[in-house]
Amino acid sequence: MLNGKIVLITGGTGSFGNYFTECVLKHYKPKKIVIYSRDEYKQFNMANKYKDYTDVMRFFIGDVRDKERLLRALDGVDYVIHAAALKQVPACEYNPIEAVKTNIDGAMNIVNAVLDTPSVKRVVALSTDKAVNPVNLYGGTKLVSDKLFVAANAYSGTKDVRFSVVRYGNVAGSRGSVIPFFRQIIENGGKELPITDYRMTRFWISLEEGVQLVIKALTEANGGETFISKIPSFKIPDLAQAMLPGCGMPEVGIREGEKLHEVMITAEDSSTTYEYEKHYIIYPHYNWWGKENIISGGKKVKEGFEYNSGTNQKWLTVEQLQKLLTDMKLEH
Ligand SMILES: NC(=O)c1ccc[n+]([C@@H]2O[C@H](COP(=O)([O-])OP(=O)(O)OC[C@H]3O[C@@H](n4cnc5c(N)ncnc54)[C@H](OP(=O)(O)O)[C@@H]3O)[C@@H](O)[C@H]2O)c1
Repeated sequence: MLNGKIVLITGGTGSFGNYFTECVLKHYKPKKIVIYSRDEYKQFNMANKYKDYTDVMRFFIGDVRDKERLLRALDGVDYVIHAAALKQVPACEYNPIEAVKTNIDGAMNIVNAVLDTPSVKRVVALSTDKAVNPVNLYGGTKLVSDKLFVAANAYSGTKDVRFSVVRYGNVAGSRGSVIPFFRQIIENGGKELPITDYRMTRFWISLEEGVQLVIKALTEANGGETFISKIPSFKIPDLAQAMLPGCGMPEVGIREGEKLHEVMITAEDSSTTYEYEKHYIIYPHYNWWGKENIISGGKKVKEGFEYNSGTNQKWLTVEQLQKLLTDMKLEH
């Protein structure tokens, strides 16, 4: 699917973009991969990392807030992956207008610029569990972004372009998440790992699973779908025990804007959600752009079904967590 194609990744120098690029170069023969982001230093480092692929890699300095620049970068592009975002919860709360400009205006600019670029056939935007019943502005902006990409299919008219969304939770080991936080305490000789709430649970997803789901969405989407991986859950106290067996675990209280459990699919979305072997798809509640396009092989979930890390069927044990932690690459 990606062979001979030009793929543009907004936020291509981030964790997702780097790993996506690595996987695409390993498994496909794209004509070009265009990295679109603001910071020249991150692009310089990435260009060095992929110096054997100068014929394929292209680096565009640009902001998703700048539609003119997006239009220039999109010329001739086949597929767009939208990964650029402001994603730190406290930073979005403190700088709300910046969060709106990047996450909402940026999404609008992508949609409009894509609609004005005939070569683009597929767009996949990255979402987060925080967009589901949001309790913070980051989640709120990503919810609006998701809605923009789903509704963009209605704007496409006769153009052959499809927009879809891939949603996942905190990537294991990503910057600012609990694993590097615990790891730092352990490296500094700490004997206790603070737990915000003993009941807290999370989904476990690796970057690789996130990338695979994006490729699935690129390949299969008819437009308007939200793809969600089926992944296991873990309890935060189990993670602490996996990382520092026998450690003390003082309970320090839930943080602002934090949820006890991650939710990927709400009961309200169950009426349009289908289950597949390895993932779920939420189909749009409003489909103004034509007949329902349900991808084959799925089964409608029961009414009231919720995909929640606290009520998940699959759980990781302390031993399984230890194995995953050993195999995992940490971000720097
Ligand atoms: N990491 C996770 O755990 C996680 C979980 C769920 C969903 N997601 C979603 O996945 C996506 C990618 O996340 P990530 O972990 O790869 O993020 P990341 O590592 O923080 O990377 C963000 C990327 O976006 C670029 N960027 C930021 N603002 C921009 C702007 N205004 N215009 C153009 N580029 C901009 C950054 O480069 P510059 O600063 O140089 O512009 C960087 O390349 C995000 O949409 C996020 O919401 C992430």
